[in-house]
Amino acid sequence: MDRRTFLKSLGAVGALSLGGILTGCKDQLTGASTSLEQLPSGPPADGIPKLTHGEIQLVARPTRWELAPGKVVTAWGYNGQVPGPEIRVREREQVRVVLTNELPELTTIHWHGINVPNAMDGVPFVTQEPVPSGGQFIYEFIAKPAGTRWYHTHFNEKDQLEKGLYAPFIIEPSNSQQYDREFTLALDDWNTGASPSVSSGNSGMGGMMGEMMSHMMGGQMGNMMGGQTPNYDTYTISGKAWPATQPLLVHKGERVKLRLINASATETHTIHLAGHALKVTHTDGNALANPEEADAVRLAPAERVDVKFFADNPDIWELRCLDGDHAQRGMKTVLQYEGFSKSARSRPAMDRALRVWSYANQSQGMMSMNMSSVMTLVGADGKFSLTLSGGMMMNPDVWTINGRTYPNTEPLWVKQGDRVRVKLFNMSMESHPMHLHGHTFRVLSINGQPSELLKDTVNVGHMETVEIEFDADNPGNWFFHCHKPMHMEGGMISLVKYR
Ligand code: C2O
Ligand code: CU
Repeated sequence: MDRRTFLKSLGAVGALSLGGILTGCKDQLTGASTSLEQLPSGPPADGIPKLTHGEIQLVARPTRWELAPGKVVTAWGYNGQVPGPEIRVREREQVRVVLTNELPELTTIHWHGINVPNAMDGVPFVTQEPVPSGGQFIYEFIAKPAGTRWYHTHFNEKDQLEKGLYAPFIIEPSNSQQYDREFTLALDDWNTGASPSVSSGNSGMGGMMGEMMSHMMGGQMGNMMGGQTPNYDTYTISGKAWPATQPLLVHKGERVKLRLINASATETHTIHLAGHALKVTHTDGNALANPEEADAVRLAPAERVDVKFFADNPDIWELRCLDGDHAQRGMKTVLQYEGFSKSARSRPAMDRALRVWSYANQSQGMMSMNMSSVMTLVGADGKFSLTLSGGMMMNPDVWTINGRTYPNTEPLWVKQGDRVRVKLFNMSMESHPMHLHGHTFRVLSINGQPSELLKDTVNVGHMETVEIEFDADNPGNWFFHCHKPMHMEGGMISLVKYR
């Protein structure tokens, strides 16, 4: 369907009545809330998150963005901010977004984790023609399921996502929420040119070798090994690097929810809050049957984790990334209780062993392959087995599924009503956060350990086996791919196709 036909067909859609209903919680934080001129509502001055109502205008355009005092980059953002404006609606509300492209190249928007109709999915040349510079596209869909979702460009992501074209999309459940205050924290990283960047041309040490060296060197060598590892020098929370990050302001006695979104192209982040026990309540926006306690949570690219905690320890506490030098390079902020001034001492992380929550925790390491498989259970209509590979020394930019690169990968043929099982095995040296569009899936097992998590993106580590299951309930042609832009562009994509 071309844009004109599509715009015409929208004429039939009635006016929207989304109403500016207030939610039960009192506060929220996105990056800058200064440039919401295009949004009918958003984080207002009084800090009460409002639902977005009416038509949402998003303009993708280059913008001068200050990551930290004196550290200015030319970002590409929605409505002149990074992340773009947080969209917040009630579950099952009708959403209508007008995207205007003021970038010098094509673009689209993908609604990550929202089970939209296929034509609204934002995959260029599969579900829509990309929007030309100066053009518009209208996205319209019912917001479901509830949870921490996000939206981002799906065109030339290795440039466009890296430059800042992403934002939170919060779908609130229709039942009331169990917390007093919430914050949305979108994690990202930047190459500001402050340190020499490594070209992607790659002579020799990329891919597998680079990763092996990187493992051997405790991760410190990764950026020097060439290949496709961008040389990040600045790490941000909601578009800002310390000391420009927004403090999380709370009152004693509040129940606080954090929505963590890893918008990084390639980096995994482990977020730790000092002084408080976290409860992991949602993975990729979907509730855990039994919330789990932790001191820190690990997120692969594109994953989200919601945690909650009880604000019962007044002081100023650090929230930071534990990986590499991410915190020193900006990925930290403070949890600040009312009455504690900013000049107070920031507490460092606790010294005892931290409980790091990660769904792959039970069985890590090179030899954790466990072939005892739930795939043999009866009840699935379609079963697929995908081996992820690539990044070999001779072809460091080629990433394969069952030996092939997209568009030559075998589609996963399903029919509506099927219960579909997919077994993913990663024999490459790098990890692959595999994302399925248009569906929520159950993680059945990770290296043979049963799981119950509901997700839309699952990280498959080196030599790991992950089994997932989903209901084929949303007809169309759906991307199923590694979320690292370089791996996606290198071919690690299959289509789930309905017969
Ligand atoms: Cu979040 Cu196909 O992407
Ligand atoms: Cu990958």
